[in-house]
Amino acid sequence: MKATAKAHTNIALIKYWGKRDETLILPTNNSLSLTLDGFYTTTTVTFRDDLSSDTFFLNDQAITGEQFNRVSTFLDLIRSETQATNLYAEVRSTNHVPTAAGFASSASGFAALAAATTRALDLSISDQDLSRLTRQGSGSACRSIYGGFVEWRQGTKPDGSDSFAVQVQPAEHWDVRVAAVVLSDTMKKVSSREGMKRTVNTSPFFSGWVNSIPYDLELIKQGIKDRDFEKVGNIAEANCLKMHATTLGANPPFTYWHATTLAVMQEVQTMRERGIPAFFTIDAGPNVKVLYLPKDEATVKKALLDIPGVHDVIVSRSGQGVTYL
Ligand code: DP6
Repeated sequence: MKATAKAHTNIALIKYWGKRDETLILPTNNSLSLTLDGFYTTTTVTFRDDLSSDTFFLNDQAITGEQFNRVSTFLDLIRSETQATNLYAEVRSTNHVPTAAGFASSASGFAALAAATTRALDLSISDQDLSRLTRQGSGSACRSIYGGFVEWRQGTKPDGSDSFAVQVQPAEHWDVRVAAVVLSDTMKKVSSREGMKRTVNTSPFFSGWVNSIPYDLELIKQGIKDRDFEKVGNIAEANCLKMHATTLGANPPFTYWHATTLAVMQEVQTMRERGIPAFFTIDAGPNVKVLYLPKDEATVKKALLDIPGVHDVIVSRSGQGVTYL
């Protein structure tokens, strides 16, 4: 009763921002992401009859508190949904992602955990069912089951049975690159969970955000199909700005941006004025991800590294879905 799985993070081009059900993790809008091969988590799950509770080690350190509780609650969910075992598990994860700095380590983390757990229990489960299950650990994680461009369909059913991700185009469809611009590896102050909750409950801009999604989604899917980089980049950048605008309208208001975040955004716009197609997107943290095409890799990387306050730039290609080791 042991298995190891590897899952990559994903970067949302159309953001998931808002829940209609916090327990089942059901979103208020569809979202669309690109899976990244540069950032991933490997997780080994071992069910053992000598354990009196679950245990969780992250990068060889024993984890307790909130992070442990999320893992253990997720294992409880799998145990009760599948009735496959009542044994506790040892979970050992290695994160190749800077944790909690807006790099969605929870996405690769829960996708690898769900995959390793179901494999350790010998459950034969479709990708769709695995995505639906993973969603209940962390919403964005349900997209990391697949490689390439992935859409999470919000669904309409109250039980969440129609809320899961599907692949839109495989990684091989289009060689788009993403540079992760690392400004700070400090923990963020408002988690994405807390941030989206506050926005849903208090921001007058939230309804405008939700209403704008269907149009963005339709256009970006056409752009991806046609490999129209300008179109995809412009929609992704504008969608990101709309998501972040909702946080300024929340009560109390907040923003994930630092001064250097703005400097990176400005540099990306300057690059475009110089004829280099590059576009930014930002998750629930200060770091910026920049989309660009392979031919511009050296120029984009250098321009980003030259910005004062930028500590590192890590480039990534589009990645594959979950694999078992
Ligand atoms: C800004 O998936 O981390 O990265 O479902 O509460 O675990 P929970 O939230 P999470 O939120 C990610 C929000 C985002 C946008 C996105 O990835 O779509």
